[in-house]
Amino acid sequence: MSETSTTEDPRHPSSDPSDFLDPTVGDTTTTATRPTGAEGVDAGVGLTALLVAAARAIETHRPDSLAQDVYAEHFVRAAPACADWPVRIQQVPDGDDNPLWGRFARYFGLRTGVLDDFLQRSVGTGVRQVVLLGAGLDTRAFRLDLPSDCVVFEVDRAGVLAFKQQVLAGLSAAPRAKRVQVPVDLRDDWVTSLTSAGFDPAAPSVWLAEGLLFYLPGPAETYLIDTVDRLTTGGSALAFEAKLEKDLLAYRDSAIYAATREQIGIDLLDLFDRGPRPDSAGDLAAKGWSTSMHTPFEFTRLRGRGPLPEPNDALEGNRWVFAHKPRP
Ligand SMILES: C[S@@+](CC[C@H](N)C(=O)[O-])C[C@H]1O[C@@H](n2cnc3c(N)ncnc32)[C@H](O)[C@@H]1O
Repeated sequence: MSETSTTEDPRHPSSDPSDFLDPTVGDTTTTATRPTGAEGVDAGVGLTALLVAAARAIETHRPDSLAQDVYAEHFVRAAPACADWPVRIQQVPDGDDNPLWGRFARYFGLRTGVLDDFLQRSVGTGVRQVVLLGAGLDTRAFRLDLPSDCVVFEVDRAGVLAFKQQVLAGLSAAPRAKRVQVPVDLRDDWVTSLTSAGFDPAAPSVWLAEGLLFYLPGPAETYLIDTVDRLTTGGSALAFEAKLEKDLLAYRDSAIYAATREQIGIDLLDLFDRGPRPDSAGDLAAKGWSTSMHTPFEFTRLRGRGPLPEPNDALEGNRWVFAHKPRP
């Protein structure tokens, strides 16, 4: 099993969604306002990768855990930004009643378990390329039972991937499949980065965009969906998470968003892109993919544990979309 890293220069386009240029024209706009991609996990959207890692650490050690990730707590412990975050539910004074480390963390645990199963089902059909878009601190290359001829491409910004690599190297963790880090900003034209890292569009692939799309400007999401379609052959699959709320700010005082803001200083509503969202599930269906869309609560009921709806619920608009491209 081998591991490869690729590098490329980060670029600096504008954070304004309207400035997202059609990447097919091979140009990007440079301004000083947009983060460069070199930022790590200490602030901004990179910090959300640590939030999910802390949630997975807590989930891992629950007696009725929905997902297992023994690496997750090591990321949390290694980052100064979250030195005082819990990695066990017992470290949370109000335990499961805490909206952030109780209900929200359980949501992430459920999502991880469901997407683990989705990915493994695809691999079970013979797919050998896995692309994790906005991979963050996802350790599926290490913890899932993947065949050794599988290649896992981890796509995220350079600083996040560098932190991840440093922690995993410190643990002497060995991936179960070939693992390729692809440092790139998904608001840019990321196709060349992926294909020059060895991705083969002629072979089937499975893609995850877990906790990613709502951070991207709408046009970057549209580009991402178009690109996945363009880079995939029949037999490929994609799962992604969407948020359907028309007015995210209406949930500003929801228990989850308020607790995340007040307890760990992450204002998710400031990080989410609040421009109009494309209908990505509809776009894939129009391109011939079979799609299904589910609420997380459906999986809570199926698995017998996880978050259920509540009033003023920040999870109300969350949907998990599962898409398959038919074989010819
Ligand atoms: C909430 S985390 C989810 C990480 C991972 N998918 C998981 O579920 O554990 C969001 C991730 O998306 C990445 N991300 C957000 N915007 C991005 C962009 N423009 N380009 C690349 N990655 C991005 C962040 O760096 C972060 O790692």
